[in-house]
Formats: sequence, C-alpha cells, structure tokens
Amino acid sequence: MTARSPLLELTDVTASYGRIQVLDGVSLSLEDGGAVGILGANGAGKTTTLRAISGMVRTGGSLTFDGRSLRGLRPDQVARLGIAHVPEGRGTLGHLSVRENLLVGAYQRKDRSGVAEDIDRCLDLFPNLADRVSAPAAGLSGGEQQMLAVARGMMAKPRLLLLDEPSLGLAPTTAATVYESIGRLRKETAVSMLVVEQNANLAFTLVDSATVLETGRSVLSGPRDELMGRDEIRRAYLGS
Ligand SMILES: Nc1ncnc2c1ncn2[C@@H]1O[C@H](COP(=O)(O)OP(=O)(O)O)[C@@H](O)[C@H]1O
Ligand SMILES: [Mg+2]
Repeated sequence: MTARSPLLELTDVTASYGRIQVLDGVSLSLEDGGAVGILGANGAGKTTTLRAISGMVRTGGSLTFDGRSLRGLRPDQVARLGIAHVPEGRGTLGHLSVRENLLVGAYQRKDRSGVAEDIDRCLDLFPNLADRVSAPAAGLSGGEQQMLAVARGMMAKPRLLLLDEPSLGLAPTTAATVYESIGRLRKETAVSMLVVEQNANLAFTLVDSATVLETGRSVLSGPRDELMGRDEIRRAYLGS
C-alpha cells in the first residue's frame, strides 16, 4: 500500500500582486485531520499564502487539495471544494446578528434543516455566542467576533479551515480563550486547520507542526516539539 497523500500540499509556491512577487517558494503539507501553523514576522507572506490557496492571488508552483490542483480556481470554486477562509481582521458583518452572520457562512448550502442543526452545533461549541444570537455582531467583544468568524467558516461544512491570525488585536487572556475554543473545535470535529500566527506560543497550543516564513519563503518546517526546541525559534517567536 502506498502512503496516503496529504489533504493539502504546497510545493514551491510563488504568488504576486500585479507585478510584485511576494511569495518565492512556500512549501507545506497538511494531513487530513491535522493542524499546521504558518509562523513568521509581519510582512513575511503568511496572509498571501492563505490567499494563494483561496484563489485570491496569481500563483506559481504546485498547490493541491485532496489530490487536485487549486491553480487557476476562483475563490468560490475553492470554497466549494471544502476550504473555508477566515480572513485576517475577521470580516464579520457588524449590522447583522450573530445568527445572520452564521447563515452567511452557509450561503452555498441547500440543506436547510442541516444548516439549522449546524447553527445549534456552533452555538454549543462557542457558548459565548449562544447568549448573543440575535444581537448585532458589532456589539460583540473582539474575542467573540473572532469566535463568530471561525463559527461562520464552519457553517460551510469545510474539510479545511484557513485561519488568519485569530489572536490579532486581542488581549493575551482573550487570545488564549479564543485558542481554547479553536482547540475544542479541532477535537470535536474532523476539520483540518491551517493556522497563520505571529504568536508562536499560542499557535503551538493548537498545531502539530509548522512552517516558518521569511520574506515569502519557507525557511524551516517541522513538528511542533522540534521547532519549540530550536534556539532561533525561541528567540524570534517564543520570547525566550
Ligand atoms: N494587495 C497587495 N498589493 C501589493 N503588495 C501586497 C499586498 N498585500 C500584501 N502585500 C505585500 O506582500 C508582502 C506579504 O504580505 P502579507 O502576506 O500580508 O504578510 P503577513 O500576513 O505575513 O504579514 C508584504 O511585503 C506586503 O507589503
Ligand atoms: Mg497577515
């Protein structure tokens, strides 16, 4: 028997905004059910890597999901394959209620009773949202808005969730709470995760392995424990 191929595989990916190339060799591999981190400083190309997967920028190299190439697909086509993108800055719709935001996440689905069940499941997974289900999203705290953004991503029933800096702009204790919720989500569902973070301490509470980007290139990849033991990672990303 041959080894099972990864759910998501990026090999030497390049990406450009117009004529400006910002990714120059990003590689990573994610097993079905796994969680992989993308670490790196501001401007390293983390967000662009997620955009490359989602079909939002022009790419080169190889990107495959479940054995099929993502190159040239539009964002809606990528979404339909089972990839949900939770963008940097969350993107929740402030004037809509929590429930309406969740419905937006399910817009491609036709199974109304399944959608209703999944809203209930999301509210179980993110109890902070359950109390506020009819309230406008704009009134939620930053941490609650992040949880809503993740829950909205899950409403598409994705196989893979792309999370862009879930801790951005949150106080440390709030960020830790958000990561606990995402960790519970990981345990209680089969969803795979690709998680962009500047805060490696937080990311390592969730992911099995990670790749470090510097100026648009993967410079180091490995299992969590191996990376956490490396001096350069500790100095640059773990504050020790
Ligand atoms: N829309 C854009 N047009 C041109 N350059 C961009 C655009 N978005 C980001 N960049 C540049 O691409 C590089 C990588 O950005 P980004 O992927 O957002 O990094 P990160 O998420 O790691 O902070 C940066 O140099 C940034 O200035
Ligand atoms: Mg970013």
